[in-house]
Amino acid sequence: MTEKGHEAALETLLREERVFPPSEEFRRQANVSTEDIYEQARRDPEGFWAEQAKSLDWFKPYGRVLEWDLPFAKWFTGGKLNVSYNCLDRHVKNGGDKVAYYWEAEDGEQRTFTYSQLLEEVCRCANALKELGVKRGDRVAIYMPMIPELPIAMLACARIGAPHNVVFGGFSPDSLSGRINDSEAKVLITADGGYRRGRVVPLKANSDEALESTPTIQKVLMVRRTGEDVSFVEGRDVWWHDIVPGQSAECEPEEMDSEDMLYLLYTSGTTAKPKGIVHTTAGYLLGVSYTHRLVFDVKPEDVYWCAADIGWVTGHSYIVYGPLANHTTGVIYEGTPDYPDRDRYWKLIEKYRVTILYTSPTAIRSFMKWGPRYPQSCDLSSLRVLGTVGEPINPEAWLWYYRYIGGERCPVVDTWWQTETGMIMISPLPGLTTLKPGSATRPLPGVEADILDEQGNSVPLGGGGYLVLTRPWPAMLRGVYGDPERYRQTYWSRFSGVYFAGDGAKRDSDGYFWLMGRVDDVMNVSGHRISTTEVESALVSHPQVAEAAVIGQQDEVTGQAIFAFVTVKGDVEPESELGEELRQHVATKIGAIARPKQIMFTPELPKTRSGKIMRRLLRDIADNRQLGDTTTLADASVVETIKEATSRAAVTGEE
Ligand code: WTA
Repeated sequence: MTEKGHEAALETLLREERVFPPSEEFRRQANVSTEDIYEQARRDPEGFWAEQAKSLDWFKPYGRVLEWDLPFAKWFTGGKLNVSYNCLDRHVKNGGDKVAYYWEAEDGEQRTFTYSQLLEEVCRCANALKELGVKRGDRVAIYMPMIPELPIAMLACARIGAPHNVVFGGFSPDSLSGRINDSEAKVLITADGGYRRGRVVPLKANSDEALESTPTIQKVLMVRRTGEDVSFVEGRDVWWHDIVPGQSAECEPEEMDSEDMLYLLYTSGTTAKPKGIVHTTAGYLLGVSYTHRLVFDVKPEDVYWCAADIGWVTGHSYIVYGPLANHTTGVIYEGTPDYPDRDRYWKLIEKYRVTILYTSPTAIRSFMKWGPRYPQSCDLSSLRVLGTVGEPINPEAWLWYYRYIGGERCPVVDTWWQTETGMIMISPLPGLTTLKPGSATRPLPGVEADILDEQGNSVPLGGGGYLVLTRPWPAMLRGVYGDPERYRQTYWSRFSGVYFAGDGAKRDSDGYFWLMGRVDDVMNVSGHRISTTEVESALVSHPQVAEAAVIGQQDEVTGQAIFAFVTVKGDVEPESELGEELRQHVATKIGAIARPKQIMFTPELPKTRSGKIMRRLLRDIADNRQLGDTTTLADASVVETIKEATSRAAVTGEE
């Protein structure tokens, strides 16, 4: 078929509003293929989770399944277990030769780790951390590229009971130091650098800069990845190759309490300060292993590849903890989908005979833009389940994924969840659910969700509103680190008694959920959450900026793109280079993911009489929509001025 022919076929599919029931063949072999499980979970939620909890290995049994003192939950109280033991030792006991990870570098270098090799590496790293003074309860910051030492370091922390705080390698020194300071981490694990499209990301140089303002860090453990020259601070810095390989390959796992903190992961909220989301031990591990098994229909022979970065929650839950707890063979790839060419993902699938692929709508839309010839040049017949996460998936992208990647044979599971939920919450079960392109379908068994209107009333089927979760779940966040009030305020105060996710959603007449994006001041760019306030405060930290308002503008590939309206100080016309300078300034302050795509200089920002910036109007302007209600504006002429400025195209910058 020609490209035109393909497009026409997709359009027909769209118009048909086709639904996709699982094939008989898939259903027959599926881990779940009947509705019973939903009913069981509804009838007796705690009994249901207790049944699931038998899949974990406990050093000491727990007492109660759930202690719920709204909004504070404790799951499996009194139980003792260790996450790294559950991910490694118990599998190795029955023979450790199964491959845990195939790792592939950007340049094609490969490393394979069996479960027993992974266990040995984790023990060595754990012993090294102890030698560096890390004790149970100490926080360890991790700022690393996508190399095997990253999951090894995380599991080593879990083994000795030291919560990790992974900071995505694309973040700036400022973002890193902010997260280190908030978590009061004692040790930082990093690398000299990482590779991205053949270029070096200077992780150690960034770390050095961050560490100028982090009094709690005592030691830096550093992997040699790129081999370039980096600074070495005597007494503080230690090379991984100097201290880890010589350690014993055995390390007793700490007996952790069910509710001991496993990790902290920072995510953007509606203020400039990111929130440290707290995840604990038993409930989290149960939640991620249970959902991984059901949603991806995981079998012992699968080769599973989650193409996220471990620096985000998707990587924590579905590259590291869920899959390893389930004794799965996984692929980890260091680089980007277009390096060295746009067929890299498909080459990897062909090479490792990947059976399950989990990626993001943004990636899929890029693949669509590049055209089907890249996947068509590779053998993708090993695939059997496809997943997406991170942002709403438009039906076109869903259908493209289904057709060109899945060969119209693989169910597509659109999984809705958050850093805070820890585990997948709304998703099809591939052997059971009839799929509708663009819908995450239904809450998983054991999960209950609803859609509420402004007043907090449940919206009947067919309507839209605010997505809430109405029952505690095992992998739920236990709080915002050091700030119980913010936890309560952010998630539990908008509607009484339920968890407010910050997302808008509709429900169709079959009760299927359709996610509509954020309803707060959080943008979603390529599946990454970025707060408008965070970008605004980065902008106003530039000496020439008086005021800034940031919105997410609709974007064909990345879902949303960052659009900044900026007023400069004084009466001067901004120089044309200033736009580029400001974009760079934000990238330096926060990280490249937060670099605005467009900056528009305006003499003023539209405000209400009480001085609030009217973002809704700015969104309308940016998306070229008919303007909504302007009657609350303090000065209605501002909008005209901005629109004039738009037509003069005072905007800058493409990636
Ligand atoms: C969005 C990523 C629609 C949503 C796991 C949520 C989605 C935020 C989906 C969480 C989906 C995630 N459909 N929207 N399938 N998955 N989102 O914390 O807005 O990085 O609130 O967790 O991403 O992003 P986070």
